This record gives sequence, structure tokens and C-alpha cells, in this order.
Amino acid sequence: MTDTKQQSGSAKQMKTLVIAALMAACAVSPGSQAQTKDHPIPRIAQKDGRYALLVDGAPFLMLGAQSNNSSDWPATLPKVWSAIEYLHANTLETPIYWEQFEPRPGQFDYSAVDTVLAQARQHHVRLVLLWFGTWKNGSQHYMPEWMKLKPELYTHVTNKNGELVDSPSPFAQASLDADTRAFAAFMRHLKETDPDRTVIMVQVENETGTWGTLRDYSPAAEKLFQSAVPAEVLKAMEKTPATPEANWRDVFGTEADVDFHAWAIAKYVGQIAAAGKAVYPLPLYVNAALRDPFKGAPGTYESGGPTDNVLPIWKAEAPAIDVLAPDIYLLDTPAYRKVIELYHRPDNPLFIPETAGTTRAARFLFSALGLQAIGYSPFGLDYTRNPPAHAGDTNAPNSFLDPNADNYKLIGPMMRDLARLNFEGKLQAVSEVESQPVETLHFGDWDAVVSYGVGGRGGPPKGNTEPVGRALVAQLNSNQFLVVGYSCRVDFRPAGTEAQRKAQQIVNGTGQTPSASIDGKWQHRQFLRVEEGTYVNGAFKAIRILNGDQTDYGLNLNSEPNVLRVSVATY
Ligand code: DGJ
Repeated sequence: MTDTKQQSGSAKQMKTLVIAALMAACAVSPGSQAQTKDHPIPRIAQKDGRYALLVDGAPFLMLGAQSNNSSDWPATLPKVWSAIEYLHANTLETPIYWEQFEPRPGQFDYSAVDTVLAQARQHHVRLVLLWFGTWKNGSQHYMPEWMKLKPELYTHVTNKNGELVDSPSPFAQASLDADTRAFAAFMRHLKETDPDRTVIMVQVENETGTWGTLRDYSPAAEKLFQSAVPAEVLKAMEKTPATPEANWRDVFGTEADVDFHAWAIAKYVGQIAAAGKAVYPLPLYVNAALRDPFKGAPGTYESGGPTDNVLPIWKAEAPAIDVLAPDIYLLDTPAYRKVIELYHRPDNPLFIPETAGTTRAARFLFSALGLQAIGYSPFGLDYTRNPPAHAGDTNAPNSFLDPNADNYKLIGPMMRDLARLNFEGKLQAVSEVESQPVETLHFGDWDAVVSYGVGGRGGPPKGNTEPVGRALVAQLNSNQFLVVGYSCRVDFRPAGTEAQRKAQQIVNGTGQTPSASIDGKWQHRQFLRVEEGTYVNGAFKAIRILNGDQTDYGLNLNSEPNVLRVSVATY
């Protein structure tokens, strides 16, 4: 499907924007074509400080995988789907390339979008489409050729020495106009061709920002840098300038350049997002190349994107963006945990659109779920790299995909329940931290105690040789829990309030029942029933009751994707 209608010149651009606005009105009016009964437009809901991604009207946990950058072509898509299938992922994140989408100005080629949509439906997989527009990893490599050939119009950032660098200028009005028009056309096409909501989210740009220079030093940018800081930025960053004319340096000191660049890029991307959302209000997000969460000084990271230090600026300048999302390639546990804490904010749901796919990293899905993540998606999990050793044999071990396949096999069938329980604040999840073999989760009258590296019947937990343990506990009612995980042991202990509790003990190495002294009286945990089962058609189905050696020393979660439903009481 190729739209051959040529549009050029500012009059036509204006017409496009007017049409976009009119379509916006249609998109939100009740009963419009876009709002089909069973498939309302996906949206992000917020309740009591918690978030959920609603798909088909109910919380949805995105268990995703992102393809490699050049995989979204008919020739390579088969190598994507076979990996997605092996992974049990419910969502594919894959790019839409501006250079392919708009081969000539105003002429849109929808064939790539249509192909991936049709194939996703065949595979019963949802899509997150990544708009590789003005920015891709800080550069403008996905701009169409007709733009690349006119650098004087679609300008680059100028560095301190007056040289052009490999990064688009956020002050290039022609680039902004072109991207806005193309993105709106893309969103309009989704609205018209995706009534069953295969596409559940769209990423606007990719890792916006600039490497190698802190900001644009062109004369136009310089003039703005020397001007008063806009009121909305002052408010967002909680700054009160000494004088109304205070410029960026006066207000922000050594952070001024990166704050200025973030402002300029957020404003640019905010306009593109608003135009797309006006056409079709899908959830939109921007992904961030991170800075070191502990010591990220200007110059050590890609400047201008939604790094943790400038999130308020992005929120203020790009309100059509629902989520600012970290791409986390860190493997250091404290750093990973710090990043997810920084992006899990009252004004921002946690969503990890890119992360490493390794064994060590896979456990972090659980850390993210512990902070109500709406989705998680390791990068580059397709067979254009790392073809499987046993092509076609979906049962053969696959070291490249298994770390995440194990997670998705376990969690995938129950993802609707987990997303709902997380939205209701009833779910907690953790992953193993080196040198911390025990972690306690608090659920009112009960504590769930997670231990790693517990040998056989008991003995003190030592931690796993590699920190791969992970556990998730969700409270179904006051005395009943769902428990899943790998490489750990979970037990329950009466909790009482802190004021009531005088002492507590857990079994590890003692052979005793987990107990607590509450108001001077020991209360001991007993299992009423421990059911092992699986999820079938979205509901728990018990297979057997565990007892004896399988429960006497706590609940051992090893390498099988089993779900436990546990009822506890005290004596
Ligand atoms: C982060 C980017 O967002 C991805 O598109 C990809 O380039 C990875 N880095 C690294 O391969």
C-alpha cells in the first residue's frame, strides 16, 4: 500500500496539520470507528500511584523482545518470529524506518507497517512499533535520503568549535515539520488499519540526544542559551532565578548545557508526539540512553535524552509522551536497581524497552515487576544474529534465548492476573542481590521470606554461585498467595505490626517453623494447602498438592516453570 499523493510546501504541511487536528476529534469521540467495542484503544491507567497498561480494557503485562535494528524487513522477519515463538514473548518491539516510510517528500510507503502488522496477527503477538525518525542513538541516520542530501535545511548540531557533528539539531524547523508530518501519517495509518489493536504502544524516536557535544552551539541556539529560562522549565526543575532575566548558565550552572539540550529536544519530540497522538491516541514513550545513576557528570553520557537528571524537563515539554523509559544495559546489580527506582515515579510508570538478554540480566524482570513495571523487553533477540544450533527444534536448549524464555514460560500464561494484581498493589517481586541471600517481603499479617542458595533440607542460605535467583509473591486474600520464581526458596512467617512483634525466626538451618513472637505469644506458620499448578486459559489449575519433603523446609523453586498457590495459617 503506497500513498502516492504528493504533498509539498508549507501550505500543504499546514493542511496536513489541520487534517490531523480534525482526525484527533474523531479519535476521541465516543463511538468513533477507532473505538471498537471489544478493542478499546490501549491506554495507561493510574490508580493510587500505580500504573497499568490497559489492552483490550484490562491490565496487560508486556513480555517483549526487541528485534535487531535491521530486522524489520520481509526477508528477515521469519528469523524474528521463530525467536519470538521460542521465547514465548507476547510482544515484539520492532522499528519503522523513516527512510523506508517516506522515500520521497510527502509520499508514504505503508508496506513495511502492513507486513509486520499482518504477520504479528498471524503469530498472535502484539507490537510496539519504534519510530526511527529524526533521532536514532543520537544521530540522524534514519532520515530519508532526500533529507540527508540537504544538510543546510535539515541541519546538524554545531559543536563548541563551530563544527557540524553527527546529530540532528533540535532547532531545525524543517526537520521538525517533516518528522511531524511523517509521524502523523504513520499514526493515521495505524488508526485506520489496526482496529484489533495489534499495536499497543509506539516509541517516538530512538535514544534521542547527542554524543560528543553537550548541546547545539549554533548562533540560534546560543541566543536562546543566553536568554531567560522558560517558566515551565523553572517550575519543573523547582528553580527560582535570582532575576527574571537569569539565563541557563545562571540558573543551572555546570548542568546548564545538558538541561538546555534536554529542553530543546523534549520540545521538538513533544510536538511530534502531540501531532501523532491527536490522530490516534495510543500510549507513546521515549527511550533513554542512560547516564551512570551514581556519577553521571555532563560529558560522560548522551546529552539531551530523558536521562534521570532531566526527567522533569521532559515531562513539562512533552506531555503527549506517556512514559520516559530507560534502556538498561547495566549488569551491576546496585546500578540496575537504582535506575529502575529513578524511573518508577508518581508521574512515570516503569517500562524497560531495552535491556540485556543474558542470564545475569534476566532476573531483573522480577526487580522491575517489584516496581510495577508495565513491560520489559530485552534487545536483539532474533535469529539474524545467533542462529539456533538446532534450527526448528523448539525443545533444544538455546543459551541465547533461554534466560528470557524461562521467565516468559513461567509468567506468560498468568500475565493478565499478574498485571491486575500489580495494579491493585498486591504483588511483590525481587531478584537476587550479591551478598544478600535473604530478602523479606511484607504483606500485612504475613512476611514472605525469600532465600537464595539454600542447600537440601536446610543450612543457612549462601546465595547462588551466580546471582540468578528471582521470586514473585502475590496476595490473593489475607492468607493465600501465588508464588513463582527460580533458584530460590520462599517461606511465610507471621508478621504482626512492628510494635506488636517482639522476635521472629525463620527455618533456615534451624529446622524450626517460621514464627514470630507477637504480643508476647509465639505464632507459628503452618501450611494449610500448597497447590502446584499451571495457568490454563488465564486461570490457575492445580495439578497436585505438595506436602512432606516438598514443603517441610519451605517452598523450593528450582528450574521448573511451576506456579504455587499457597494457603497459610498460624497455630
Ligand atoms: C540502544 C539502541 O536503542 C538500540 O537501537 C541498539 O542500537 C542498541 N543500543 C545496541 O545494539
